Amino acid sequence: MSTDDSRRRLRVAIREMEIDDLSDVYHLGSRLFTSGELPTLYRTWDEYEVTTFFNTDTEYCLVADVDGEVAGFVLGTTYEKDGSAWKYGYVAWIGVKPEHRGQKLGHRLYQELERRMAEDGVRIMLMDTEAGNKAAISFFSRMGFGRPEPQVWMSKTLRREASPANGAVRRHASPARSMRLALRKPAEASSAASNGHATDRALHQTVKTV
Ligand SMILES: CC(C)(COP(=O)(O)OP(=O)(O)OC[C@H]1O[C@@H](n2cnc3c(N)ncnc32)[C@H](O)[C@@H]1OP(=O)(O)O)[C@@H](O)C(=O)NCCC(=O)NCCS
Repeated sequence: MSTDDSRRRLRVAIREMEIDDLSDVYHLGSRLFTSGELPTLYRTWDEYEVTTFFNTDTEYCLVADVDGEVAGFVLGTTYEKDGSAWKYGYVAWIGVKPEHRGQKLGHRLYQELERRMAEDGVRIMLMDTEAGNKAAISFFSRMGFGRPEPQVWMSKTLRREASPANGAVRRHASPARSMRLALRKPAEASSAASNGHATDRALHQTVKTV
């Protein structure tokens, strides 16, 4: 890279995700949510997360575009509960390429998501992540989140019987979607947890009132 190139200011834009970004966002997530570092996020990240949010919550799917390249993204959704005046915003996924960290891209992505959600009537923002994801917990603390509540995320490995049917792939609601359901139905979720057998890991949920 020449000196002129390195001095050139990068053009950064926080914009809505477009159909051509789907593959970049999916592959960036696969690079960030790895089995070694973030095993629960690794298990729940898949291409259906990207396409489902894009279909259902387009205005809450944002990318950080740096010189035409996707350097980060955030995917969110909102909830309303019967009988409650509160509207909730949920930050389902946020990620920034390691080489672009510390440049406020995460901050700008989150702020734009929060601005849009607040404009749509959201009063409480929620996020969750693995208890060991210190970077994300520090980041969300800086974004004004607090009151972390540990939540247990459990798993059980089922033995597969050898049969030709095992070759067929069937799609089910992803674990991440189940996790969001748990956010909406805390009583049912905790009773299900107390019936389980294997503790997987504690998640932190944190809340921000806007
Ligand atoms: C969390 C993440 C999105 C932060 O992105 P980022 O662009 O580097 O964050 P920013 O530069 O906007 O930082 C914003 C603030 O958070 C703080 N922060 C960010 N990363 C931090 C870290 N690793 N440790 C401590 N503080 C951190 C910054 O210091 C900054 O605070 P300041 O406003 O006082 O300066 C990024 O680390 C990431 O992609 N992590 C992997 C994916 C992930 O775990 N996502 C969350 C679960 S879905």
